[in-house]
Amino acid sequence: MPRQFPMPISDHLENYKRYVEAVAPEYDGKYGAPLSEHEKRILVDAGRSTRGWIVDIGCGTGRHSRLLATLDRPLIYMDFSRSMIKRAKQKLSDSHKSWPVLADARHLPIGPESIGLVVCLGCTIGGIPSSEARQKVVLESGRVLSRGGLLLVDYRNRLSPDPPSSLKWLILNLFYWLRMPKRLMIRDDSRYKATHVGPEIGDLVVLDKDMGLEFYNHISTVREIETMLRNAGFVAKTFSSGRGFSRRFAWKPITLGRKTP
Ligand SMILES: C[S@@+](CC[C@H](N)C(=O)[O-])C[C@H]1O[C@@H](n2cnc3c(N)ncnc32)[C@H](O)[C@@H]1O
Repeated sequence: MPRQFPMPISDHLENYKRYVEAVAPEYDGKYGAPLSEHEKRILVDAGRSTRGWIVDIGCGTGRHSRLLATLDRPLIYMDFSRSMIKRAKQKLSDSHKSWPVLADARHLPIGPESIGLVVCLGCTIGGIPSSEARQKVVLESGRVLSRGGLLLVDYRNRLSPDPPSSLKWLILNLFYWLRMPKRLMIRDDSRYKATHVGPEIGDLVVLDKDMGLEFYNHISTVREIETMLRNAGFVAKTFSSGRGFSRRFAWKPITLGRKTP
């Protein structure tokens, strides 16, 4: 029988914040791999096809903000973790058009229709507990974007056969559908382990064995994220991450939303 979530879903946000605070000092060295060329190209293209302010939601140590700052546009980099913001500030200290904001992505302290591009990358959306809360982040992004503005979101895909063995893929998905705890192959290593599942399919509590801490994570599908964006008034299009045999099955898809007039 699946083990139940160890705490109410609402408590996972604070728990995740604690995890992030603990991880921040070693985030760049251990977790935040350099951006791939594919990711850089999508970011720069999105930047060039929009105007005005850019917001990086859940900026972490500023991996994406650093690149976005080179576009020479006003940039808000935002996170709910003080430690993360502190590190992002160091990375962006030479950028005179960038401002740090400590805030929760579900309640952006930004006026309506004032932003050209919102990015929410590094699988930030998957750390936000409950589909309702994730939808709120997307709705908030839609509220602050001007008409025609763009939103970029990436996430882990539970339909991805990564590592690329279809037998393993079938077994992993069977585990998801049966809602059984299992080893979670976030990367092809054994650092992370899923210890609990539910309440929604794709919901996991993951143990970071190096840190000895557990945190919430939701593994989505392309369809789930595209539907969320459409429900918030976006036209959605998904790019594969350059790995995987199609975007539906991509390891880390990036979905682009254009706010409809
Ligand atoms: C997986 S990290 C990704 C960081 C960065 N985007 C990157 O790719 O390196 C997720 C980040 O989102 C932030 N975060 C998670 N939930 C948040 C929320 N509800 N509001 C604001 N920031 C949040 C965390 O503090 C963390 O820095």
